[in-house]
Amino acid sequence: MTNDAGTSSAAILDVEQLVVTYGTRTAVDGVTFQVKRGEIFGLLGPNGAGKTSTLSAIEGLLKPHAGTVRVDDIDIQHDPIEAKTHLGVQLQASSFQSELTIEEIARLYAGLYGLRITKNGIADRIRDVGLGDELGKRYKSLSGGQQQRLSLLIAVIHQPALLLLDEPTSGLDPQSRRQLWTRIENLRTGGGSILLTTHSMEEAQAVCDRVAIIDHGKLITVDTPAGLIATHRDDPRVVNVARGEVTLEDVFIGLTGSEIRG
Ligand SMILES: Nc1ncnc2c1ncn2[C@@H]1O[C@H](COP(=O)(O)OP(=O)(O)OP(=O)(O)O)[C@@H](O)[C@H]1O
Ligand SMILES: [Mg+2]
Repeated sequence: MTNDAGTSSAAILDVEQLVVTYGTRTAVDGVTFQVKRGEIFGLLGPNGAGKTSTLSAIEGLLKPHAGTVRVDDIDIQHDPIEAKTHLGVQLQASSFQSELTIEEIARLYAGLYGLRITKNGIADRIRDVGLGDELGKRYKSLSGGQQQRLSLLIAVIHQPALLLLDEPTSGLDPQSRRQLWTRIENLRTGGGSILLTTHSMEEAQAVCDRVAIIDHGKLITVDTPAGLIATHRDDPRVVNVARGEVTLEDVFIGLTGSEIRG
């Protein structure tokens, strides 16, 4: 996608001064960040920080109270249909028609995106996510991890430029988790960009090119994991919680506090 000057901007996603409210509650309070093309970007924050609300506004699932979101240079509010064709989405809790089989669901979504894909092509995609033996199984009889893998397959079926993943590894066993990260890294190698949320600081540190820490709806900091550690390793709040070498988790807890959120 090119802009008026005929050049492609460096950001696949540009979020400016985003505000999301539910009634009188402000869940996202003026958040600004960019995801660069070819980047794996992690949105980190305690429960209730505003991560899912931010993603929902980017996806166009809820209308922001204020601010702008541009996906691949397209304003999501001006041209939501076009913007959505550039997006793949895996929600925190996704669910599909329970009586349909994996194969039927994949064909349904391929059809919705207008993809020309053969029955064998669909079967190959399903095999790619390790569900080859479950082609004819109904959605309701899949395990949680299998449901998760199917929702990832659906999210990328139209090869979107930007993939949004809300806690993609929660509920997955270590094997599936590793495979998922490999898949995410492969997507990036193929030119895709990924914005994800996770509560695993270890995974974020290992896989994300950059991370943002959000708390109480406000963005506290954005940097590479190594950059965040270097900047904050001597902060007394971080030193206080670190046990040995400072990790991203120490920085996260140091900056967001140790209390459990309601
Ligand atoms: N549909 C809703 N109606 C009212 N309040 C909501 C709604 N969805 C979220 N909230 C509130 O908005 C705030 C942000 O919620 P959000 O789901 O964005 O957090 P999160 O960072 O995704 O948390 P988690 O890590 O638990 O998934 C919370 O205070 C939450 O209670
Ligand atoms: Mg959430």
